[in-house]
Amino acid sequence: MTILLTGGTGYIGSHTAAALIKGGFDVVLFDNLSNSSPDVVHRLETLVGKEVPFILGDLRNPGEIEQAFMECDIDAVIHFAGLKAVGESVKRPKLYFENNVGGTTNLLDAMRRHNVKRMVFSSSATVYGDPETVPIDENAPLGATNPYGKTKLAIEKMLRDLAEKEPDWQISLLRYFNPAGADPSGLLGENPKGIPNNLMPYIQKIAAGELPHLNIFGNDYPTPDGTGVRDYIHVCDLAEGHLAALKHLSPGVATYNLGTGKGVSVLEFVAAFEKATGIPIACEIAPRREGDIPTCYACTDKARAQLGWAATRTLEEMCRDAWNFYYAATQK
Ligand code: NAD
Ligand code: WQD
Repeated sequence: MTILLTGGTGYIGSHTAAALIKGGFDVVLFDNLSNSSPDVVHRLETLVGKEVPFILGDLRNPGEIEQAFMECDIDAVIHFAGLKAVGESVKRPKLYFENNVGGTTNLLDAMRRHNVKRMVFSSSATVYGDPETVPIDENAPLGATNPYGKTKLAIEKMLRDLAEKEPDWQISLLRYFNPAGADPSGLLGENPKGIPNNLMPYIQKIAAGELPHLNIFGNDYPTPDGTGVRDYIHVCDLAEGHLAALKHLSPGVATYNLGTGKGVSVLEFVAAFEKATGIPIACEIAPRREGDIPTCYACTDKARAQLGWAATRTLEEMCRDAWNFYYAATQK
């Protein structure tokens, strides 16, 4: 079975490609390389020991995604391709809607033309906005607070409407919590350009001596130690969640949280990184970051019961593997 991975050279797409190949699937990667490097293809090939087909293309150009379906015999799509920087989305909402929503409509058109009606979509816990209660289950109220989150909600709605109208579609909406970590080989991982927004990539740069200290955005939240609480999930667990979702596709739309079900504070995260790597991380308390919420973690019962999937890797493994990748990529 051949799976097309849009955004396949990205952080989560590349780890999922590895998990799929290890699970016996064939993959084709489709990416415009706007936020990833062609180098990822070679790294992936080294990791899995075989050639991995890659198509350079942009979902905003209908002809390019059409060409991919013409060239390859695709059975299902995992749709990762999208822009994901919350701050940038506030400044450039049109770009986010054109790329994320417009790109998805072009993809759906090509899928329909080629009678491929099976899709796993990368959604996000951001669609829950500021949750009323935790752990958050899949029926919690939805409401995104920034353009990025609004694109995810719009795509979710579009896919639901599509499946209602055309009941032969099989769609899984995966709401990721906070992916972190890297493949333990050190070949795949996350290394965003510029100054990172997310916690793990920022801490990696402090450990490498590239940034002086971590600004902890607020220590007066209503959480046990006052710092923000999130559900960090190892990217390899997340990747395996896609494999499970793909195997369980059935007519209609199913929605799953992919998280660990455990909340971790910023201070606990820093302590785990220090323990896993032996590298001290200097911290300073800074004002709250605009748009941040106090606490967000998943109820994972549905994925466990219906997909037979649960995250197994620890926070320390996440930190060890992230640092292993970053060190190999930048320090040697
Ligand atoms: P990423 O930026 O590493 O990967 C996305 C890939 O999509 C990149 O390689 C980029 O070049 C490609 N891309 C973007 N627009 C494209 C287009 N128009 N045509 C073709 N390729 C395009 O991000 P990621 O962390 O791997 O995220 C993958 C998906 O998961 C995204 O949809 C993101 O919104 C979602 N997600 C990510 C997180 C997270 O924290 N990383 C959390 C929740 C959801
Ligand atoms: C985690 C915690 C920060 C950096 C974002 C998106 C979300 C999803 C995942 C895609 C928070 C604190 C962080 C720093 C800090 N992406 N922090 N200092 O904000 O939960 O989620 O990425 O869908 O949509 O919003 O993740 O890693 O930025 O922050 O104190 O320099 O770390 O305040 O409590 P977040 P994050």
